Amino acid sequence: MLVTGKGGVGRSSVTAALAQLARARGRRVLVTEIGDAPEDYSPLARYFGRDRFSVEPQVLEPGLRGVVLLARTGQELFLKSVLRSGTIARAALSSDVLRRLLSAGPSFREMGVFFQLLTYLRAQHADGKPEYELILVDMPATGHTLSLTGLPDLLLKLVPRGPIAESLKEGQAYLNDPTRAAAWLVTLPETLPVSECLELIDGLRKTQVPIGGVMLNRMPVDPFTPAERALLTTALGHRDVLGHESFDRPLLTQRELARLLAGTSLPVYPLPEFAHAGLIGSLKTALETIAPIARSAS
Ligand SMILES: Nc1ncnc2c1ncn2[C@@H]1O[C@H](COP(=O)(O)OP(=O)(O)OP(=O)(O)O)[C@@H](O)[C@H]1O
Ligand SMILES: [Mg+2]
Repeated sequence: MLVTGKGGVGRSSVTAALAQLARARGRRVLVTEIGDAPEDYSPLARYFGRDRFSVEPQVLEPGLRGVVLLARTGQELFLKSVLRSGTIARAALSSDVLRRLLSAGPSFREMGVFFQLLTYLRAQHADGKPEYELILVDMPATGHTLSLTGLPDLLLKLVPRGPIAESLKEGQAYLNDPTRAAAWLVTLPETLPVSECLELIDGLRKTQVPIGGVMLNRMPVDPFTPAERALLTTALGHRDVLGHESFDRPLLTQRELARLLAGTSLPVYPLPEFAHAGLIGSLKTALETIAPIARSAS
């Protein structure tokens, strides 16, 4: 599951809650995120009581492991698989020239992340089933997500044969198979996040990544009935009273929800606005019974 969306919409919170839910249902879960450097602080790892994930899958709780996907780790794994030797791979990567080349080309960076992910997709458990029954990727914001999902197509045009091409094809077969992969878009009921979500849906379609649906996060609960709203609107008139933004927010939400539903036929799942304390637990409970928003017949 690739969890993606605009910055700040709740990708990491939703990823953490999905990981907890799948783990509670007895799946072997790997939760991942794409990082820049192994020492960086990770807000996702914070949800599991750590400052960061390690560069190799590490047990967070029984049934749940976490790892950071880094270009360098993946490049090393790739060289190791091609050269069939970890020592030579590490020696090759310690060459300044090669390291600079690999970190300069954006495609090389994404190739590393892609290959690391592929390694976990391939991993087998002793029972013959996949080692990880669910792999969650907390994807970077929109642009970077599309560079990653568009990578196989782009590189296969340049390098159609050889070990790189074979890995790309294998990864692409996973990413484009709706029985094995799905992107989930997280967004907010606000103007810019909804617009960016619709653009991202288009972009993902072009890279042929199947999309599970949209999670409309932080939906406010409207405490007023339409009749109460009408009454209050008349009573308040045009006065700029304290709290008018909160009063109007559910209306903005409805407008953005309508725009989202009009812009895509994908299922849209609502997730409420919760208190900060216990957020992941609340999201997990909400995800257990989540159902798509009904569309009117019109
Ligand atoms: N349903 C929710 N109710 C209330 N607060 C939420 C909800 N979902 C997320 N948040 C809050 O929104 C903020 C952003 O969430 P999060 O870090 O998960 O987003 P993100 O998309 O991963 O952001 P980034 O682009 O920084 O990686 C956090 O403070 C989180 O606690
Ligand atoms: Mg995040």
